[in-house]
Amino acid sequence: MSTETTGAAQAAMPQPRRSVAFIGSECYPFVKTGGLGDVMYALPKALIAQNCDVKVILPRYKCIPQKYQEKMVYRGSFMMDLCADGKSYYVGIMEYVWDGVVYDFIDNDEFFSWGNPYTNLVDDIPKFCYFSKAALAVLNYLDWVPDIIHCHDWQAALVPVFQQAMFQGTPVGGAKSILTIHNLRFQGIYNNETIKYWTNLPDALFDYAVLQQKWVDSNMLKAGLSYASMITTVSSTYAEEIQTPFYGEGLDAHLRFHSRKLRGIVNGIDTTLWDPQTDKLLAANYGTKNAVKQKRANKLALQKALGLDEDPDKMVIGLISRLTDQKGLDLVNAIIPSLIDGNTQVVVLGTGDAIYEDSFRGYENTYKGSVCSNIMYDETRAHMIYAASDAFLVPSLFEPCGLTQLIAMRYGTVPIVRETGGLKDTVEPYNEYENTGNGFTFDRYEWWLLLDAVNRAKTLYFTGRERWDEMVVRDMEKDVSWDKSAVQYRQLYMELKP
Ligand code: ADP
Ligand code: GLC
Repeated sequence: MSTETTGAAQAAMPQPRRSVAFIGSECYPFVKTGGLGDVMYALPKALIAQNCDVKVILPRYKCIPQKYQEKMVYRGSFMMDLCADGKSYYVGIMEYVWDGVVYDFIDNDEFFSWGNPYTNLVDDIPKFCYFSKAALAVLNYLDWVPDIIHCHDWQAALVPVFQQAMFQGTPVGGAKSILTIHNLRFQGIYNNETIKYWTNLPDALFDYAVLQQKWVDSNMLKAGLSYASMITTVSSTYAEEIQTPFYGEGLDAHLRFHSRKLRGIVNGIDTTLWDPQTDKLLAANYGTKNAVKQKRANKLALQKALGLDEDPDKMVIGLISRLTDQKGLDLVNAIIPSLIDGNTQVVVLGTGDAIYEDSFRGYENTYKGSVCSNIMYDETRAHMIYAASDAFLVPSLFEPCGLTQLIAMRYGTVPIVRETGGLKDTVEPYNEYENTGNGFTFDRYEWWLLLDAVNRAKTLYFTGRERWDEMVVRDMEKDVSWDKSAVQYRQLYMELKP
């Protein structure tokens, strides 16, 4: 692209330019354990198209693949005071610029030498106290002062707190902050003494309005919510739900108190990365015109690869998930025997709690040829399952947004979801009278309601195929990109003028 075109393209963008520092604990393709990793990758890219200048600050974990480590460039280092006893730590900055986004990795072997980004709270609490303070110090060191500091989840929740308590009068002290809740279940709670030691924050902040919780504990997310200029979460419904005791994870009253600065902006997906027309990991690429035929080819390839009975007339139901209580897997476990009827296959991909890993392995053993449980984390297999499945299960107990139902729709795979959080906001229930909707839904968290939803899907699949195929096309045509939500984030950044 010539400089002239770049200039013209720039002029056509919304003005003025806004600079944003994204701070979070994971980001695809460097390190990803769930949807936060997808968002940290895709949203900055979508914001660039909205005339934002984005820098992403991440820990430099050992587990980041070598091919990325090799491309990082050393940008400097310094020592940073951290602990209550005056102990200071090395902060190195390794930079990687890719696709218009600048990634600054914070380097410190003591904190980030583990294989996994999250290990246990004993190690994770100091790690993310250090990371949150170092992120601010890095911005000052690089003399890159953003208009907005956009922090994600509890791991970066202390950023607004450190900023207010320790960085006033420094360049980064004037930036506005946003804290996005991706999952309220994880809050970074530990005893007061430990958090006091690792932050050296003033005693006044160990108060009920900020860090304090239940006398003995400090809650990092709670403090971030108090100090952030604005709070967002990843769907409108979840923004409402978390203000109630059931979904509030003990912070519902705190969130109601701060509700004037709380907003829901639904996630999207990167539609270039997730595109059945160009996805190199698929057996057969497809668009809306040939989806029905080509999805059968993908189905056969998957059945073959996984040792399932090879028959494209069988209905394949996919499930890709962290295997935890959040995801409604006890409901799935309860209905698998009723699903397996000789015409239906179930493919699971996930890792997590032993109870679910074992039960899914058990079902694979009982229903050989009809159930395949892939107890692993595997991006390639995920792409294959999204493309090959006919329907996709997301029966979550709670779901802040959920990306798997969005990816499924993009691949013409009909979602079956519980009406909660982002699932409710993104999947419109099938209406048989008007022939509208994108999937099948159920409301209360009961296994028989999930079974009923799956049976409604099966009925349409086996007895109303034309209608089913129309829904496949509707799903593929649905806008699941970041475009609309990136505009909303930009608007929010504009409202928060420093
Ligand atoms: P959460 O963040 O709660 O785990 P999301 O639906 O937002 O849920 O995002 C999950 C992301 O992780 C999706 O991109 C999904 O494809 C991916 N994913 C989950 N489990 C696996 C797995 N075992 N292998 C590959 N990808 C997975
Ligand atoms: C969380 C939530 C999920 C959401 C993701 C990205 O991990 O569990 O619902 O889609 O973050 O925001």
